[in-house]
Amino acid sequence: MKAFLTGGSSGIGQHFKQHLESLGHDVIAPTRQELDLSDPTNINVDLKEYDLLILCAGVDTNGRQEFYKMKPSDFVNTINVNLTSNIILIHQYVQQRLFKPCSKVVVIGSQVVDGYYPGYGVYGTTKHALDAFMNTIKYELKDKNIGFTIIHPALTKTNFNRNRGNVPEDQVNDLYDQIPHMQTSDLIPIFDQIIKDKDNLITKVSLTK
Ligand SMILES: NC(=O)c1ccc[n+]([C@@H]2O[C@H](COP(=O)([O-])OP(=O)(O)OC[C@H]3O[C@@H](n4cnc5c(N)ncnc54)[C@H](OP(=O)(O)O)[C@@H]3O)[C@@H](O)[C@H]2O)c1
Repeated sequence: MKAFLTGGSSGIGQHFKQHLESLGHDVIAPTRQELDLSDPTNINVDLKEYDLLILCAGVDTNGRQEFYKMKPSDFVNTINVNLTSNIILIHQYVQQRLFKPCSKVVVIGSQVVDGYYPGYGVYGTTKHALDAFMNTIKYELKDKNIGFTIIHPALTKTNFNRNRGNVPEDQVNDLYDQIPHMQTSDLIPIFDQIIKDKDNLITKVSLTK
């Protein structure tokens, strides 16, 4: 199979990319320099040859600050990367893959969709919205031969916390010291099931430790 994957430079996306490659699949994973998701208006990708569209990129820019201390550019970046760019990529993929025999969109959400957590106002909103979007288009496009799956991982040890910005180096791992968490490898078994799910029956998965 041929996959187009975002977020392949780090964390969950990097592990998915390496795993697909180890199974012999062909994975194109543009770097941020090649496809910057903070500017959705500039996204124009030829996706017609890909059986799989796997959207792992995500941020919570300066999200460890309280909301009133964030800059508008922080939350606009989080919304653009996590939500708007994903919708634009899915729109382009669907337009280019209509009625092809095997197409699947896999998106990484987050278990923040299970509730409403102080400190996750903007990030949580992007994941709730992504969940709503995926659950809506899977019904709207149910006769178009395209599968839609959203994976909601609980806390997983990656560079995500460090990449939020404004996190002192001695605190980048504090979440992992305090809270039970997964490794990226814990997501691989369900990821395998999702990409083998030819009937597109798996539409939503939550994973926790
Ligand atoms: N880790 C967790 O606990 C957890 C839990 C639930 C859900 N998630 C979700 O899982 C996904 C992957 O996160 P992760 O934990 O693997 O974090 P990560 O290690 O920080 O990886 C984030 C990825 O997103 C890419 N990215 C960020 N901004 C970008 C931009 N403007 N343009 C293109 N790519 C950009 C990063 O590229 P660079 O290398 O260039 O920065 C990196 O490849 C995210 O959607 C996150 O919300 C994470």
